[in-house]
Amino acid sequence: MNETWLILGASSAVARAFAREAAAHGAALLLAGRDMEDLEHQAADLAIRHGVSALPMRFEARELASHAGFVAECRQRAGSGLLNVFLAFGVMPDQAEADADPAVAAGMVEANFTGAASVLGVLGPVLEAQQGGTVVALGSVAGDRGRKRNFLYGATKAALLVYLQGYAARLSGAGVRVLCIKAGPVDTGMTWALPRLPFMASPREFAAAAWRRAGRGGGSAYLPVIWWPVMTIIRLLPTPIFNRLNI
Ligand SMILES: NC(=O)c1ccc[n+]([C@@H]2O[C@H](COP(=O)([O-])OP(=O)(O)OC[C@H]3O[C@@H](n4cnc5c(N)ncnc54)[C@H](OP(=O)(O)O)[C@@H]3O)[C@@H](O)[C@H]2O)c1
Repeated sequence: MNETWLILGASSAVARAFAREAAAHGAALLLAGRDMEDLEHQAADLAIRHGVSALPMRFEARELASHAGFVAECRQRAGSGLLNVFLAFGVMPDQAEADADPAVAAGMVEANFTGAASVLGVLGPVLEAQQGGTVVALGSVAGDRGRKRNFLYGATKAALLVYLQGYAARLSGAGVRVLCIKAGPVDTGMTWALPRLPFMASPREFAAAAWRRAGRGGGSAYLPVIWWPVMTIIRLLPTPIFNRLNI
């Protein structure tokens, strides 16, 4: 397989499991994130286990000015192979914390949306030029309807979804597939401090399902799929009832 997966936010538990899936299918990897020590260990482990090329790369979503140089380096490191993208970075501070501190709120918007739009924007022409490839980005069920407990996080994911819809339309002529996964709760660092959440998936189950779904094409998809009926009900609840729920 002459394909490379660029994993953005590669220290995330979900991204780590997705990178293992890609490596097991013979893809080369560019592991991009902020914790270089972790990425170096991960790259060495994947290279030994799966006999694929795996390279760590420094990436900070909020350093917008660095994105053009970063993408150029990714293109060069992927060589003549097809470049695919798995976008997994994100933060989810408490709604109360974001309400109390505008810097926390702005930081979440910058990382989850502005940073994602910036790096995808720079990647767009690269993907168009190669006339193919796949982009998978992690949205959230939280983006379907603003809940009182985390509507700012939800808003960043709703914005990401809309961005990806237009991005998919623009790149469709070049044969690039763009998939937004509306993720339900996954058992990772992001959720460990929260009370036990319903239908919690393990990173490994989630990544395997994401890999299979990405193979079927772009669009948007709930994972685990149980969230499709659940969110259909949540979205249809009349506002007075929804507003009384403590979710
Ligand atoms: N876990 C869930 O229940 C759940 C549900 C729905 C959607 N999601 C989404 O799934 C994605 C992966 O989350 P996860 O659950 O695997 O959480 P996680 O383990 O906390 O991973 C988040 C990743 O984002 C990276 N990151 C944060 N801010 C960044 C920045 N400014 N620049 C570069 N990287 C940054 C982190 O890097 P550092 O290690 O350097 O901090 C970390 O690698 C996120 O987009 C999240 O919103 C998760």
